[in-house]
Amino acid sequence: MSAVLIIGASSAIGSALAQHYLQQGVQVIWLSRYAADFTDPKLCCLQAPDFNGQEEWTLHQDFFSSVINTLQQHQVRLIFNCIGWLHQQAAPTLLPEKSLSQSSALLLRKTLLLNLELPVFYLQGLWPYLTKTTGIRYLQLSAKVGSISDNQLGGWYSYRSAKAALNQWIKTASIELKRSNKTAALVTLHPGTTDSLLSAPFQRNLPPGQLKAPSQTALYLAEVALQLAPEQSGLLLNWDGKILSF
Ligand SMILES: NC(=O)c1ccc[n+]([C@@H]2O[C@H](COP(=O)([O-])OP(=O)(O)OC[C@H]3O[C@@H](n4cnc5c(N)ncnc54)[C@H](OP(=O)(O)O)[C@@H]3O)[C@@H](O)[C@H]2O)c1
Repeated sequence: MSAVLIIGASSAIGSALAQHYLQQGVQVIWLSRYAADFTDPKLCCLQAPDFNGQEEWTLHQDFFSSVINTLQQHQVRLIFNCIGWLHQQAAPTLLPEKSLSQSSALLLRKTLLLNLELPVFYLQGLWPYLTKTTGIRYLQLSAKVGSISDNQLGGWYSYRSAKAALNQWIKTASIELKRSNKTAALVTLHPGTTDSLLSAPFQRNLPPGQLKAPSQTALYLAEVALQLAPEQSGLLLNWDGKILSF
């Protein structure tokens, strides 16, 4: 493989993916608000813009032109977007809802901004590259709790709803992408419960063996990416490659 772009690369899973591909000798384009805390001759770090949801997306056209130039230069054929958000421990503390009474405008807006708007912002910005690049694979990290048919437990209203909307958005975009690029694959991907800042407060009651180290998750997700075919475009995939229901 020539090169991979990782958006939200400083996330636990994104950073593990970057290290996995670097170990394979693959060029990694690291796109994040933060530079990598390690160096490698095959690592190229790009600064992500601050995004607070108040500005027009079109203000970032120069940023996307520059990212697309880098993707062309390195012939990137694989993109992961790892951006996502679930809780905030610093004041004001924001936690996923256990009941409807805990919903708030602040929690809902922030959850939608970081799990839906920001991923869509990147998808739209990179669209000219996705429509023209043969064999491009774009894996948008999502979550199984965004599956409406799988919802047995309730709770986590905002996060579930944001990921469900994200799954719908990617499915819809995959249909549009097929019209201009039949060789592309655009999917949502559940990484499985992985040790990270995002999952840390919710790890206590997990069944033994369910929590994966980021490096394990990266191995699984890289395998899914390797096997991904254009016919699978639009699906919600599990970390082991199985299809999850919406
Ligand atoms: N960990 C799990 O158990 C689990 C389970 C199911 C689904 N997921 C999904 O998998 C993805 C990665 O999860 P993770 O656990 O690796 O997450 P993480 O370590 O908490 O990192 C999340 C990333 O999202 C981006 N982000 C967060 N807040 C942001 C903000 N205010 N502005 C811009 N970017 C922001 C950041 O990218 P940069 O810092 O690089 O800019 C950050 O590194 C997420 O979409 C998550 O919902 C995770």
